[in-house]
Amino acid sequence: MPVVSDFKVADLSLAEFGRREIGMAEHEMPGLMALREEYAAARPLQGARITGSLHMTVQTAVLIETLVALGAQVRWASCNIFSTQDHAAAAVVAGPHGTAQEPRGVPVFAWKGESLEDYWWCTERALTWPEGGPHLIVDDGGDATLLVHKGVEYEKAGTVPPASSAASRDEVVILELLRRSLAEDARRWTTVAQGIRGVSEETTTGVLRLYDMHRSGHLLFPAINVNDSVTKSKFDNRYGCRHSLIDGIKRGTDVLIGGKTVVVCGYGDVGKGCAEALRGQGAKVTVTEVDPICALQAAMDGYSVATLEEMLPTADIVVTATGNRDIVKAEHMARMKHQTVVGNIGHFDNEIDMAGLEAFPGVRRVTVKPQVDLWEFPDGHAVIVLSEGRLLNLGNATGHPSFVMSTSFANQVIAQLELFARSQEYPVGVHRLPKALDEKVARLHLEALNVHLTRLTQQQADYIGISPDGPFKPDHYRY
Ligand code: NAI
Repeated sequence: MPVVSDFKVADLSLAEFGRREIGMAEHEMPGLMALREEYAAARPLQGARITGSLHMTVQTAVLIETLVALGAQVRWASCNIFSTQDHAAAAVVAGPHGTAQEPRGVPVFAWKGESLEDYWWCTERALTWPEGGPHLIVDDGGDATLLVHKGVEYEKAGTVPPASSAASRDEVVILELLRRSLAEDARRWTTVAQGIRGVSEETTTGVLRLYDMHRSGHLLFPAINVNDSVTKSKFDNRYGCRHSLIDGIKRGTDVLIGGKTVVVCGYGDVGKGCAEALRGQGAKVTVTEVDPICALQAAMDGYSVATLEEMLPTADIVVTATGNRDIVKAEHMARMKHQTVVGNIGHFDNEIDMAGLEAFPGVRRVTVKPQVDLWEFPDGHAVIVLSEGRLLNLGNATGHPSFVMSTSFANQVIAQLELFARSQEYPVGVHRLPKALDEKVARLHLEALNVHLTRLTQQQADYIGISPDGPFKPDHYRY
């Protein structure tokens, strides 16, 4: 491995600490370690250049080093300004065979507490290879994919729209970045896009963007929707958030959750995990929903279902888990009780109307500590906003634990293998991994939990019309 000089992290001297935690995480990530073993000799990603835009945590370090073990070259950025674990980033740059003094790992561009300008610069750096662009993208929320697509769009138009047309602060920064890039090279992103064989997308929100782009005819390369592998969304989104939501609330505020009135907005996979964890702590949980099916599920699971407006006078903690915008508005926060905790566990920061809060007449922000702010209203009451409205489980805590990320990331590795080695099977469009591979990911995690499967007899298998080796369910089965 050559010495790496092209990277930007907070502090390389944290590499040894990061390496110790990566070592512990490997033990808890049996899926990734099994894939390393399975493909150690064949190295099927040999020659692949992979750009990742995904929370730069200890667990992601194990994913990155798995991709490298399978032969890939990798460059990485985080997909959130607060989610990087600086010791993990340092350890990945140093690499398993290098040191902080002589880094021999992977170029990482990520640190905790990036500005929006830093963030998009990091994403752009991760997409920039000496050879041009990547063959593959691992995306979480779709920002790397978005940057490439926007770049191509403006190159086609020959111009970048004015900053005044931007719908968000992120867009202002993207427009500026792409204006500079267009001035330097009018075909840069077009060439990058042409070299990309595909993207594998981690989360609900990113997948939504991909389906949108495909529907409107704008998607430029094949995509695998990793989120909707059963072993991703029914595990990471649910059990991962069940673990990391309350971790974030506790590290951020240390409020006692037991006995409190808590509102969870959205009862999808993430909301289900959140509500369960909060109830486990003894909270009185109310769910808000727009979908009658999810509302009925919440009711039958024993939660009350109401609107956020109904809950404002009594809520002690409000968590948004919808992947939708404008869920908690400034007017809502203006009517909350003193020191209501407000946090978002969905992907983007527009679930809580932070711009509206900043612009609210007479409001004052008092920073308690990084990622914890009191917003004081003129009437004297304040709300506690976690991670500036960005996902609190990664901003205030360390995200999901290794074991559940092993299920997600085993899907990511398999998706990358599929896109690289079997690209003819995946034309431009949004694909899901075949069920046999989903079941394989689950299998890789059974032994570690001492799970003993029952095996179908041939007669039983014939009776229900499947093979004793699976797949066990049709694609429409919902789990
Ligand atoms: P989902 O689609 O399963 O659930 C979202 C739910 O919110 C749906 O049931 C929908 O009906 C409901 N909803 C939408 N608008 C609403 C509104 N105005 N009021 C109340 N409910 C509303 O999505 P999933 O998988 O639960 O993901 C939710 C978000 O969390 C996404 O942004 C996803 O990317 C993100 N995510 C975050 C993770 C984290 O670690 N923080 C992990 C996994 C996903």
